[in-house]
Amino acid sequence: MESLETKVISSGIRHTSLPRNYIRPQSERPKLSEVADCENVPVIDLGCGDRSLITKQIGDACREYGFFQVINHGLSKETIQKMLAVGHEFFSLPVEEKMKLYSDDPSKTMRLSTSFNVKKETVHNWRDYLRLHCYPLEKYVPEWPTIPSSFKDIASNYCMEVRQLGFRLQEVISESLGLDKESLKNVLGEQGQHMAVNYYPPCPEPELTYGLPAHTDPNALTILLQDSQVAGLQVLKDGKWLAIKPHPDAFVINIGDQLQALSNGKYKSIWHRAVVNAEKPRLSVASFLCPCDSAMIVSPKALTNDGSLSIYRDFTYEEYYKKFWSRNLDQEHCLELFKN
Ligand code: OGA
Ligand code: NI
Repeated sequence: MESLETKVISSGIRHTSLPRNYIRPQSERPKLSEVADCENVPVIDLGCGDRSLITKQIGDACREYGFFQVINHGLSKETIQKMLAVGHEFFSLPVEEKMKLYSDDPSKTMRLSTSFNVKKETVHNWRDYLRLHCYPLEKYVPEWPTIPSSFKDIASNYCMEVRQLGFRLQEVISESLGLDKESLKNVLGEQGQHMAVNYYPPCPEPELTYGLPAHTDPNALTILLQDSQVAGLQVLKDGKWLAIKPHPDAFVINIGDQLQALSNGKYKSIWHRAVVNAEKPRLSVASFLCPCDSAMIVSPKALTNDGSLSIYRDFTYEEYYKKFWSRNLDQEHCLELFKN
């Protein structure tokens, strides 16, 4: 029997070599020396005051990359700094304290876990994560961690502000597709919100493993706060992995599978991954806006009546989400299984 303490990797023990069950076969390794910096990742200024420019920039970015960064997004430096700080504080807690929250059951609405889907995967990933449901807050905050004592306040404030940003972006994305501002939000229904506080401890052999292997996000829209000091996020563009250098004032936004489906494939849910490094721990905070479970994911008519056929069959988000968590990462795009 493995002891509980060895299940997570943020145990305070500095590993000197990579345990065997984290080692990827040769052909699946990240080949870090071949990864170039992504120089022209769109950085969109939401505070520029020119709505049509913002809409055009976001539309272009969604078509070409499926991701972009935003600055002047409305969240204060303080809100962001506090969220990052309390995340670090959480992962610095004694392992016994953290293990009280441990679960490998993806259906849990609050859990500390490790890797991706421990029960399904054969090779593990060098990541621990705290995963929280965040909407409605009154329902979920009571089950959130009570230590650090400021966690609930800081994270709920962060969640509320991020949700507003997400809605604002969905409105622009909707308009950039030529739809009414509210169209996409209407299809998505009363959206759920999840947060993953990801913690990647220094890794003794970063060339042999991942923090998170290549995946697309199964939800509608992801708002990622990257560590401002330590890089690790990479995206697949034209068959090549590119590193997204941290931008101290930006959120990284990516289109999830549901927006790819709703846009009838016009916008891309991009493959991305997190790699690890030997020197410094890295923290990221991912916020996911998710369609309500019963939302029927069907492209608005305006996107299919130009003669382009619907690429995907109709499905509910509930059906999609179950499928996603029943698989491992690193397989074909989950949306491929929903094609007409
Ligand atoms: C995720 C994710 C990337 C990162 O949590 O889905 O892609 O940089 N995270 O932590
Ligand atoms: Ni992701």
